[in-house]
Amino acid sequence: MSDLRSVILGTGSVLPKRMMSNLDFEGVVETSDEWIQQRTGIRTRYIASEDETTVSLAEGAARRALEAAGLVPDDIDLIVLATATPNNTFPASAVQVQHRLGIHGGFAFDVAAVCSGFVYALTTADLYLKSGMARRALVIGAETFSRILDWEDRTTCVLFGDGAGAVVLQAESGDHGIIASRLRADGSHEEKLYVDGGPSTTGSVGKLRMEGREVFKHAVGMITDVIEDCFAAAGVAADDLDWFVPHQANRRIIEASAKKLGIPMEKVVVTVDRHGNTSAASIPLALDAAVRDGRVRRGDLVMLEAMGGGFTWGAVLLRW
Ligand code: UT7
Repeated sequence: MSDLRSVILGTGSVLPKRMMSNLDFEGVVETSDEWIQQRTGIRTRYIASEDETTVSLAEGAARRALEAAGLVPDDIDLIVLATATPNNTFPASAVQVQHRLGIHGGFAFDVAAVCSGFVYALTTADLYLKSGMARRALVIGAETFSRILDWEDRTTCVLFGDGAGAVVLQAESGDHGIIASRLRADGSHEEKLYVDGGPSTTGSVGKLRMEGREVFKHAVGMITDVIEDCFAAAGVAADDLDWFVPHQANRRIIEASAKKLGIPMEKVVVTVDRHGNTSAASIPLALDAAVRDGRVRRGDLVMLEAMGGGFTWGAVLLRW
């Protein structure tokens, strides 16, 4: 493969109109603002209204990323969309976004890796760009987990939110762009986090089921393992990092991972307090927030990381 690197030219994100605070759960399930904040760090999350879908949120995020990159839809010849909550079983949400953007050429497909979806999608797009099979890619993480939540299950319904984030990626020669990626999967953990339905089993969509404590037990070790692999591959150390943009599932997991890696919290982008866990959308939502408020700047060394259903996990190290 060439010495090209995939560079992020622009980021964008969209949250649904409706915000739901912890207090809004009182009367829905037996919980409290105090429990949710202490155990997760979450204060609010955004919930899609009837007229908002994974595809509509993804389209909005993609348009903002294109605008930030100074490009138009026709400049894109690859769309990789990470989601576990597509609008339809098929066609792929990526193809529906392609149509809404008015793009007629190139190719588009979805990636299903749940909360790790964005790092999987970014790594996949990176390989297509470096191989020369595509020139410019939109990589999107978009979810409407509110539609697969059991709203009577307090152990899960307070944790998740909806949203979408996107980046525009282009292969360039030079020092910027994706330096190293690591992806992993281990299907033996399926029963700890899954959806109890699907087209080939129940014929229905199903609801999210999670043994949160069991997921928590594995999270920090898996996250730090792939990150350390990326550090070794790139010949850098935690001290060299400017920003750590982790998957936003739980503030306690983020803090424990940062501590184990020796990354001070001042270098960690945290949005779980505002967004909740938006699965594949959480990293591009957090990244867009940190780019737009001026934290992430050209030349910064940035680590992205996620872990989720499957289990799947992975990390991407890049020079902004
Ligand atoms: O993004 C994909 C990856 N997912 C994750 O990374 C999630 C990982 N897991 C977690 O973040 C945490 O395990 C949770 C936030 C899900 C739960 O926190 P925890 O500290 O592990 O709590 P727990 O499951 O051990 O539950 C403690 C207690 C239980 O009561 P008992 O059995 O001790 O009497 C629960 O029934 O808290 C109870 N509980 C609640 N209480 C009030 C569970 N959910 C709630 C709730 N409100 N919403």
